[in-house]
Amino acid sequence: MINVALPKGRLGEKVYALLASVGYQCEEYSPDSRKLIFSDKRGEVNYFWVKPTDVAVYVELGAADVGVCGKDILDEYEPDIYELADLKLGKCAMCVAAKRDWHDVSGAPLRVATKFPHTAEKFYAEIGRDIEIIKLNGSIELAPVLGISDVIVDIVETGTTLRENDLKVFQQISKISARLICNKSSYKFKYSQVCALREKLKGVLKDD
Ligand code: PRP
Repeated sequence: MINVALPKGRLGEKVYALLASVGYQCEEYSPDSRKLIFSDKRGEVNYFWVKPTDVAVYVELGAADVGVCGKDILDEYEPDIYELADLKLGKCAMCVAAKRDWHDVSGAPLRVATKFPHTAEKFYAEIGRDIEIIKLNGSIELAPVLGISDVIVDIVETGTTLRENDLKVFQQISKISARLICNKSSYKFKYSQVCALREKLKGVLKDD
């Protein structure tokens, strides 16, 4: 039996479809139900629907042997897990963005609104820029528009949210994609099951 934490949403549904196509299907599966655990009748796989930002927590604590989560989450929380594969799905970028006419005025600390404070602090520490973090939980793009921050550090996928709010990318911090992650003990004690799942999954992956 292998326990798999899937991020609830489009990415998780895509990953489930891939896993199902290589033999890890589950009769009970339904992305629309409120049920959070799905087990297959042969007793080979258990799926958990988990909030995307929590996948690494379930994997690190061993409730799930493997899981799928974005590189943005791994960079932000640095969980103690193994990263087994780049699934090349859910591609986007972590960026610094601001109003189109923004210019950095060095001297004052830069006010940075973000859901990713650790990532932002690390990036600005490396370039030696003083910042003040404004931690938000969503709709980050509003912060510079309403003047509570100078810039944002956030995920950009299509760029639509930035465009529609008159913002633009000033710097790209890193490229992001979904990763297959594994609990460290599971990697040791369920090695053959974990590797079989990884290889089958990699075998059917296409670029997003
Ligand atoms: C994410 C991200 C951006 C948006 C980028 O937000 O924080 O706001 O998607 O996507 P785009 O480049 O395709 O427009 P999410 O949808 O997770 O919602 P949130 O604002 O609640 O964080």
